[in-house]
Order: sequence, then C-alpha cells, then structure tokens
Amino acid sequence: MEPVKVGLLGLGTVGGGTLNVLHRNAAEISRRAGRDIRVVHAAARHYDPEALDGLEEVRLTDDAFEVVNDPEVEIVVELIGGYSPARELVLQAIDNGKQVVTANKALIALHGNEIFSAAQRQGVTVAFEAAVAGGIPIIKALREGLAANHIQWIAGIINGTGNFILTEMRDKGRQFEEVLKEAQALGYAEADPTFDVEGIDAAHKLTILASLAFGIPLQFDKCYTEGISRIEPQDVAYAEEFGYRIKHLGVTRKTDRGIELRVHPTLIPERRLIANVDGVMNAVLVQGDAVGPTLYYGAGAGSLPTASAVVADIIDVARTLTTDPGNRVPHLAFQPDELSDLPVLEMEQVVTAYYLRLTVKDKPGVLARLTGILGDAGISIEAIKQQEPAEGEAQVPLVMLTHAVEEGRMNRAIEAMEALEVVTGPVARIRVEQLG
Ligand code: HSE
Repeated sequence: MEPVKVGLLGLGTVGGGTLNVLHRNAAEISRRAGRDIRVVHAAARHYDPEALDGLEEVRLTDDAFEVVNDPEVEIVVELIGGYSPARELVLQAIDNGKQVVTANKALIALHGNEIFSAAQRQGVTVAFEAAVAGGIPIIKALREGLAANHIQWIAGIINGTGNFILTEMRDKGRQFEEVLKEAQALGYAEADPTFDVEGIDAAHKLTILASLAFGIPLQFDKCYTEGISRIEPQDVAYAEEFGYRIKHLGVTRKTDRGIELRVHPTLIPERRLIANVDGVMNAVLVQGDAVGPTLYYGAGAGSLPTASAVVADIIDVARTLTTDPGNRVPHLAFQPDELSDLPVLEMEQVVTAYYLRLTVKDKPGVLARLTGILGDAGISIEAIKQQEPAEGEAQVPLVMLTHAVEEGRMNRAIEAMEALEVVTGPVARIRVEQLG
C-alpha cells in the first residue's frame, strides 16, 4: 500500500518531536497503521537540522500555505500554535479536502465550532489529542473509552507551568516570581507566560474537555478564569495545616441548572491522588456515573510527550482515510446535531466551599462580628484558626474553611467583612473541592 503523505506546519519543539518520533518508530507505526506514514513537505521559519531525524526526505519551505496547498499532502499537521494564521491554514487545508491534526488548544477552544462545521461539510477529520494535557490520551478516553457514561464532572491539573510554580512554593517556600522565571528558563511556559499563570491556557483545555464530556458547543468566552499570582506562601502553609494542598484546577461539572466551567486555585484534600501530582506533570480526574472516578496522569507538555499524542492522531486519521465520514468518531464526542444548549453558569451561581484568610485587629469581639456576618448569610464554618500575634503586632491572620455556599452569597459576605473597621485588608479567598 502507498504510504500516507503528511505535511508538517512547524518544526519547533512539538513539530521536531513529531518528525523524530515518526522516524525512530517508523516500523512500529506502520504495523499499527497498516501503511507507512511519510512526512513529504514541511514549513518552518526556524529549525535546528542537527536535532531533526529524517529531514533529508522532506521538502522544506518557509511558506505554510505551500504545504496546505500541496496536492501530494493528505494529512496536514498544524504545530505552529496561536490563533492566526493557524485558523486560516486549517480552514484552507479543510477546504482542500485534507485531513488535519493539530496540537493547538487556543485554536480549538476559540474556533473549534467553525472548524468542525467546515470539516463536517467536507467529510474530513480534524484530530486534536495533543491540544489537552500533552501526552495523556484524555481526548480518546473521554470520547471513546468513557462513551457509555453520563460524565458528571472533571477536575484537572492541565497546566504544567502553574503546577511547577505551586509545587516549588509548597516544597521550598519559594516566591511566585522567582519560580516563574525558572519555569520560563526551563522552557515550560507559553510564549506569553500570563497564559499559564492567569489560567488562560488551562481554560482553553478545560473548554475542550467540557464539550467532549457534556456534548455542548465550545464556549471559551464563558469559562471563568482566575490565576495563581495572588497565592501567597502563607496560604500554601495554612492549607497544609488543614490537610489540604493548593492546586490550579480546571473544574467542569454538570448540574441541573447548567454547566460549571471554571479555572482557579483550589484547596483539595492532600490524601487525594491528584493532590500529589507535582512539578510539571498533568492529571485529569473524570467522574462518570457508571465507571466512577478515573484518573489520567502524565506529561502535559514537552517535545516527545506531545509528539506521542500528535503521532497517535496521525495513525488514527490514516486508518480512517477509507472509511465513510458519517461513521467516524464525532469531533466533539456527540453527533453534531445532538449538541445540548445547557447554559454555562455564571460564577455567582456556582456552589463551592471556601478557604478565607483575613487580617484582623487583635481585640475582643472581632471573631463574633465575623461569624455573625457569615451566620446571617447562612454560611456555615467548618474550621477556624487564629494565629498568635507576633511580638508587638496588633494584627493577626485568621483563616477559616466554610461549608459549600453559592458564590454570590459568599461575595456579599466578603464585602461585609471587608467593610468592618477591624478587618485591615482584603479577604483572601480560595475555593475548596473535596473531589470525593
Ligand atoms: N504551557 C503549557 C503548560 C504547555 O505549561 O502546560 C502545554 O500546553
């Protein structure tokens, strides 16, 4: 059988890894795909020929549209990232009747609805396993392995950079800024590191997971996103005293009122497996009604782990080239005419428990006034801890855990506490999930 001809857009970290994996595992891949897979054309502005295997068999250009318009290319693999020109290239490839593989989470989260509609019209596949959690086959698991289930919720550590920063802060008591610089130097962070630390990268990935889990259109604009830049070492330490760890989680849950879609720092019990996922590693916990909880763990970034997912998609697509498009696995797991219009909830409607840290004047009656505000709001306190004031210090930190409450109600209670003269600064608030 003729080899399947691939065009690669990008020969950077992931593109280079993809070329190398296709080259070094060629025989094993061919045994699986039933055909050889050959990269015939690649577009790149910058690349390191010394680091790439099999480059001599590839036609090279610096114009990605040349690859997309090459009649020989059957599968276009987009690994340049970003919104544009990735969107135009992918739409052009679809228009040309080519299959597409991409690792581009931002592209799928923002333009996936448009891209999948175009692909459906043309009868081609757009595969995107590498877009979420790098080498972990979470798309395949959700879309196929768990297809029997009502998915109830997903909670994931889906940004390696953020997890690395929080791990270093906890283990070594290091400051946020210092660890971020190290993450950048190690090459984990996005080109714009605010995408990592402010949760935008995780929100891209969570948006995709929610669509696959619940059969809803991609709605990145409705994802609540809060970063980790306001987490202080003292919060990490207090969380530990209560038996929790702070993780930057993406959480999506189906409720009777709608879908929760949120990325924020979260306290989770330290005994949960996912609480022990450290450094740049990713993990996704999925709760299905039939299977119960399942946990997927692995490298969420990096050249070869991400290439592993890209190449798996290429093999999948190569196998389906001769199948009827109507019989392929739907892009968003559910048939396109079966997507649900269940709304994404406003953050004020979401119900969670909270960790609160206040700085208060050390004088009689303060605690009673605070618990009074919470009691009037119907918010029940689970645990409370007041530190002894330092020598000569008139202010003390007060930390507490509350039971679950609607966020809107907690917002109003926090406003009332901050308005008290005895509360001397903003109230730090971190949501708490039991993930049980
Ligand atoms: N910047 C991302 C991370 C890369 O740190 O997880 C993988 O998407």
